[in-house]
Amino acid sequence: SSSIFQLRLQEFANERGMLANGRPCEPGCRTFFRICLKHYQATFSEGPCTFGNVSTPVLGTNSFVIRDKNSGSGRNPLQLPLNFTWPGTFSLNIQAWHTPGDDLRPETSPGNSLISQIIIQGSLAVGKNWKSDEQNNTLTRLRYSYRVVCSDNYYGDSCSRLCKKRDDHFGHYECQPDGSPSCLPGWTGKYCDQPICLSGCHEQNGYCSKPDECNCRPGWQGPLCNECIPHKGCRHGTCTIPWQCACDEGWGGLFCDQAAA
Ligand SMILES: *[C@@H]1O[C@H](CO)[C@@H](O)[C@H](O)[C@H]1NC(C)=O
Ligand SMILES: *[C@@H]1O[C@H](CO)[C@@H](O)[C@H](O)[C@H]1NC(C)=O
Ligand SMILES: *[C@@H]1O[C@H](CO)[C@@H](O)[C@H](O)[C@H]1NC(C)=O
Repeated sequence: SSSIFQLRLQEFANERGMLANGRPCEPGCRTFFRICLKHYQATFSEGPCTFGNVSTPVLGTNSFVIRDKNSGSGRNPLQLPLNFTWPGTFSLNIQAWHTPGDDLRPETSPGNSLISQIIIQGSLAVGKNWKSDEQNNTLTRLRYSYRVVCSDNYYGDSCSRLCKKRDDHFGHYECQPDGSPSCLPGWTGKYCDQPICLSGCHEQNGYCSKPDECNCRPGWQGPLCNECIPHKGCRHGTCTIPWQCACDEGWGGLFCDQAAA
């Protein structure tokens, strides 16, 4: 999946412990939630939860605060992974149910009855900020918040851009919020696979295979590879190009080792 719809349930109040049909729960409403997420509909209709659905275990009786829980059953915020590009609009149905049994998966147990439900429709951009909402019915109140975030390694407004940070032969980068690579220090190039040589390293005569190195090509030497290597055996001479032996004043011969007459 490339994005995740997250729903944080925060507080539910059903002070009189009533069901939607007007009857009270005995002894109290053991409450769990069913969440249905689907494409935007101006008028919400029954039918498949096209973006996914999820149920909670019993989270409390009548009125209760719902704490965050990082894993396992009762995980909160609830996670609905989306296997498509987030369209930016949605419909959300949150139903509160009473279950008389002790079933850990109350959605399957018989005798469940509806306490209340809310339906919201709207638009929502991908982002880290939670959108808070509170829905008050005559008998119940639900406080919750929600957001859509990109899954790991996905970036961009619709989470469609894949970027995996890496630090190996194929590249050295982290990922920017828009999914483009940002090179680690010492690396450059479109794929951040080209090392940046030691500062001042000669562009043609030096090279590097990792950052801050300066290796010389044949015929060149020095920390920045900007000094030529004179001809082998050159005694009293210098060079301006590799393998040259240009004699100092007063010297001559191929190796500048003969005193000039
Ligand atoms: C809820 O999800 C399950 C599988 O995750 C699916 O079989 C079922 O049809 C969904 N229910 C609705 C109403 O879409
Ligand atoms: C996501 O959708 C693709 C193509 O429709 C499918 O092959 C894949 O199994 C789906 N993955 C999940 C986790 O639902
Ligand atoms: C819902 O009810 C609570 C408590 O009664 C109140 O504080 C809140 O302002 C109400 N919210 C709305 C949106 O009416």
